[in-house]
Amino acid sequence: MKKIVFATNNPHKLSEVRALLGGQFEIVSLKALGFEGDIPETGNTLAENASQKSHFIYEKYGLDCFADDTGLEVDALNGAPGVYSARYAGENATYDENVTKLLRELDGEQNRAARFKTVVSLILDGKEYLFEGKVEGRILQARSGTAGFGYDPVFQPEGYSETFAQMGPELKNKISHRGRAMARLAKFLQQAT
Ligand code: IMP
Repeated sequence: MKKIVFATNNPHKLSEVRALLGGQFEIVSLKALGFEGDIPETGNTLAENASQKSHFIYEKYGLDCFADDTGLEVDALNGAPGVYSARYAGENATYDENVTKLLRELDGEQNRAARFKTVVSLILDGKEYLFEGKVEGRILQARSGTAGFGYDPVFQPEGYSETFAQMGPELKNKISHRGRAMARLAKFLQQAT
């Protein structure tokens, strides 16, 4: 089975992506490579960050790899937290602190429209390819559900009555921003390798 490195330190993302691509590719974690540090992420866009992460690992190990960067865009907040989703409530904020800040910022707001966007950067044989995925939805007034991570407990995708944190990994993976971007990556890899 072809091996490909997923340049992430996030165990939630790793298990989502293994569920999506694991049948076709051996997804190698950074831990398996012995890498334990932080990957720099200083770009101003999702694409810049995804690209920075994949290049960082490619330059270090010379292996085919991919990285993703994800942001939550909320219309009533002019697209915030966007590329700053991980650090919305401060530099080392927890998922819970970020969600609390989001609910506070939207307190009393009628327009709850939001979307998750993911950009994946793949480096294959030294060449870079980008893939995108997004899912529209809305931010609820309060948390519901315990599965998933990040903003999942308050994000209800369009056409569903549950949050990502209520629906569990199988359905989330099928319709999510990351699931859609990874499906494009998988299709490309199948044709290219
Ligand atoms: P990252 O920079 O791609 O790791 O993601 C930025 C932040 O977006 C994370 O810290 C999470 O809070 C949030 N995030 C990313 N993916 C998801 C998801 O699938 N569900 C909910 N929140 C997510």
